[in-house]
Amino acid sequence: MARFLLKLSLFSLLSVWLGVWARAGNSAEIGQQLYLNAGGYGCQVCHGQFGHGAGQAGGNVRGAGLAKIEQAIKEQPTMQLLATELTFQDLNHLAEYLTELGRHDYLAIQVEEAKLQVPNGSALATNKVDLIFTNQGFTEVFLDLHEMGLPSIKLNPLESKMLPWLRKPGSYSVPGYDQPIVINQGQGKDSND
Ligand code: HEC
Repeated sequence: MARFLLKLSLFSLLSVWLGVWARAGNSAEIGQQLYLNAGGYGCQVCHGQFGHGAGQAGGNVRGAGLAKIEQAIKEQPTMQLLATELTFQDLNHLAEYLTELGRHDYLAIQVEEAKLQVPNGSALATNKVDLIFTNQGFTEVFLDLHEMGLPSIKLNPLESKMLPWLRKPGSYSVPGYDQPIVINQGQGKDSND
């Protein structure tokens, strides 16, 4: 009987734990949908598709928690229109998603015709890095990223794609492009991975 009870309680502990875990993952996913679509245009129009600002009015919000979001809604008149559509629960989901994005550094690479604009990668401080490629041109481009161990990608005009990558210092050439993608050793300590 005691063993049965022990098993039973272990089982319920496990399922509570799994439940919590699933909810956290789920919340970030709901947050992502809100980030992209809330009010029909989402937060992305002002903060970029992947939260890094992408040169839009709102700037980088990766890593923003609930307090920051609530404060921004109070202070930014442009955000108030959207905010009236969001419940407190929605804001929590959004915070979950932005916190998730903030766990990894990112490198935003602009693709222009036959040129790659790669920011200095030496500030990268996490092992996992989100590589964000944006096609700035008006023709479709194709990037062969096998040297980085990544799949090749196609980008439509003005399209962005984010690829998670495990940072490995090196100089990676991309066929068809003159300058390589250079990743330095990086600064700071690796965290979160
Ligand atoms: C119409 C444009 C617009 C939309 C849509 C918008 N924001 Fe903003 N947001 C701004 C502007 C402008 C700022 C102020 C940027 C600054 O201070 O440089 C801002 C600031 C923020 C900040 C504070 C950033 C900081 O570092 O202090 C957060 C967090 C934020 N927004 C989250 C969101 C979320 C989440 C959504 C979607 C629910 C959203 N925003 C939708 C324009 C927008």
